Amino acid sequence: MTKASNIPIENNIQVCPTQEQASITTAHLIADVIKSKQELGEFAVLGLATGNTPKLVYQELVQMHKNQGLSFKNVISFNLDEYHGITPAHRLSYHRFMRTYLFDHVDILPENIHLPFGTWELNKIEAHCAAYEAKINDYNGIDIQLLGIGRNGHIAFNEPGSPFDSVTRLIDLHPFTRNDAADEFGGLDKVPTQAITMGIHTIMNAKRILLLALGKRKAEIIKKTFESEMTPQIPATFLKARPDIEYIFDTEAASLL
Ligand code: F6R
Repeated sequence: MTKASNIPIENNIQVCPTQEQASITTAHLIADVIKSKQELGEFAVLGLATGNTPKLVYQELVQMHKNQGLSFKNVISFNLDEYHGITPAHRLSYHRFMRTYLFDHVDILPENIHLPFGTWELNKIEAHCAAYEAKINDYNGIDIQLLGIGRNGHIAFNEPGSPFDSVTRLIDLHPFTRNDAADEFGGLDKVPTQAITMGIHTIMNAKRILLLALGKRKAEIIKKTFESEMTPQIPATFLKARPDIEYIFDTEAASLL
């Protein structure tokens, strides 16, 4: 295992009093990238996450679009992951999530939206994943990547055991992750067993990375991630390889630090 770095991580942590304030802070960092790229006449390439964590971030970005004229016309988006075996129309697909919480409410061009598909045929998944990576590179990489964290330390669906050099691929979901999703799927047996996910290497290549964690349920894994050396058993520890990663927490998520 690589030794934990002695980065003064505190410098990169913002602890906000509420989930709402942490989300608004995050949304503003993303909006600033969109706007500064607009001023340069360039695309802003966003790496986006799903789940509970970014919901208020997207809500704030939608508000900025509606009330402050923030345009998404120069935005290129790449999502981190998608469940394997479900269609984009499935109520719990990440395609659907992104439309519901962000894309349907802003002026992003449909052709600029990229997510892995849960419908990719097994024998073509490798080629599709390689094409996904190539597409990110075509846009000269991700300008700003938003991450949540799973309670087992996964980032995207890089489950424990994921290597540092992993790229976009099909992965078996960890029992912990499937359990966490059981309620919304209406039972563990209905939760997909696999997903397509960007790899650790894909994520670490982003020019800027924000990790947002909210609520008491995340306090334990945040503590473990910060205290542990880099290990594939807690994939989020790999973020320590980048001293510039920005961590945004609410008081509860940061409560055990
Ligand atoms: C989803 C993703 C996952 C989630 C993580 C936390 O695109 O990348 O890593 O960020 O599972 O999920 P929530 O936010 O629902 O606690």
